[in-house]
Amino acid sequence: MKIEKICCIGAGYVGGPTMAVIAAKNPNIKVTVVDLNEERIAAWNDDDLNNLPIFEPGLDMVVKEVKNKNLFFSTDIEGAIDEAQMIFISVNTPTKTYGKGKGMAADLKYIELCARQIAAVSKQNKIVVEKSTLPVRTAEAIKTILNNTGSDVDFQILSNPEFLAEGTAIQDLFNPDRVLIGGDNSDEGMKAIDALVNIYSSWVPKEKILTTNVWSSELSKLTANAFLAQRISSINAISELCEVTGADVTEVSKAIGMDSRIGSKFLKASVGFGGSCFQKDILNLVYIARSYGLTEVANYWEQVILLNDHQKNRFVDLIVNTLFNTVSGKKVAFLGWAFKKDTNDTRESAAIYVADGLLDEEAMVVVYDPKVKESKILDDLNYLQTRSGSENDSLLSVKSDPYEACKNVHAIAILTEWDEFKTYDWQKLYDNMYKPAFVFDGRSILNKEQLEKIGFKYYAVGASNL
Ligand code: UDX
Ligand code: UDX
Repeated sequence: MKIEKICCIGAGYVGGPTMAVIAAKNPNIKVTVVDLNEERIAAWNDDDLNNLPIFEPGLDMVVKEVKNKNLFFSTDIEGAIDEAQMIFISVNTPTKTYGKGKGMAADLKYIELCARQIAAVSKQNKIVVEKSTLPVRTAEAIKTILNNTGSDVDFQILSNPEFLAEGTAIQDLFNPDRVLIGGDNSDEGMKAIDALVNIYSSWVPKEKILTTNVWSSELSKLTANAFLAQRISSINAISELCEVTGADVTEVSKAIGMDSRIGSKFLKASVGFGGSCFQKDILNLVYIARSYGLTEVANYWEQVILLNDHQKNRFVDLIVNTLFNTVSGKKVAFLGWAFKKDTNDTRESAAIYVADGLLDEEAMVVVYDPKVKESKILDDLNYLQTRSGSENDSLLSVKSDPYEACKNVHAIAILTEWDEFKTYDWQKLYDNMYKPAFVFDGRSILNKEQLEKIGFKYYAVGASNL
């Protein structure tokens, strides 16, 4: 099938950047990204590129190059589905908050909604590509819905999981380690796989495009995220041991990372991993394993999440214990709220849970993040439903200037590894704080010696405080 028009349902962190790059690399294909959220589409269509709904380094330049040439953003979902030969599904699949599998399984209601919409609108054969991370065998459900429409339209379902990391999405899309495409072994299935391979091969070397069956592809995505998260929980477990034994986790990471079998990436101890994928995908893996009766497998992976929760709680305890066992009425400044640097995404950010833990201890929290909006920060906290919105409002405030945020506080906590934090005038920050002045570095980005010379009491995750 010759692909001339692509539709992508979901204009989020995955759909937006991925389609921008596909459009840039395939100027002869018209790519339309649709979304239910009118505000989000309006932001994508805003002439001022500073107003794009997501912040991602380099994204503005790619969007500028192709928007309204062969990349379009629209709320006309049906129109875009109707005209496209290939439809990507890139909607969110949050963890279920109700019913069976609550807190564990992926909520597939949006995916099902998309499948039903595609089924209702389509008049000609289409290739449907799962881009969202999904539980293994979701393609089967999509297929059943699509193939029971009563029409003779043929649908091929492919799984094409996204491996981009936020903050480096454009780089990852331009230069992927691999592109994974899962499809049916039938003639029609192979043709659909070829059609998608052709789109990627306009910039990705053929040897990096891997084709598998659908289930392997779906499971590979969950497995990749589980392995990555597991490395972080492993090093975070060691960080706790370092703190009590006098070892330093950055030295341990370096030493083990130089073993080429282990490798140096993803060995940075931190206040805990966040992001929309790791926790959700592992919970999903645990749920699937448990539903097949594989208790040991489920428990093994669940531990990655439990250790991550422990790491966030431990950071709260460190702050409270160090501030003489009480933070009631004390002010703690947060530098960073995003789940990692170079993104305005805050989903599952450790900062949310650390703030919640400190507010439970009656601390006041003042937040500065270079890219996250005030309303988002308060929404994140209110979403936990630990206390009322007005209580959160009175205990947590947001400043647009870091020096303002750190004025008259007892401690500064680093929650995100934004580069700019390293360039601040730390002497000035120190001068405006209560003494003794503490820094709790949840990302180990600052220079201990330098800060201690100024007079700070400095604590980093995994550093010996003996
Ligand atoms: C999401 C998932 O989090 C991830 O697991 C998956 O791999 C890809 O999709 P992301 O793009 O980061 O990732 O999510 P988000 O930024 O929330 O974007 C999803 C978009 O889909 C939202 O803009 C939402 O409005 C839209 N949507 C959702 C629809 O257009 N239709 C729906 O039925 C549901
Ligand atoms: C992840 C996967 O990397 C990506 O392939 C997949 O498509 C989506 O999920 P993302 O969540 O965007 O990407 O960012 P990632 O760089 O993986 O970071 C996840 C979290 O782990 C962040 O909170 C980050 O700060 C933390 N992290 C990462 C550490 O604490 N230590 C590390 O060594 C690496």
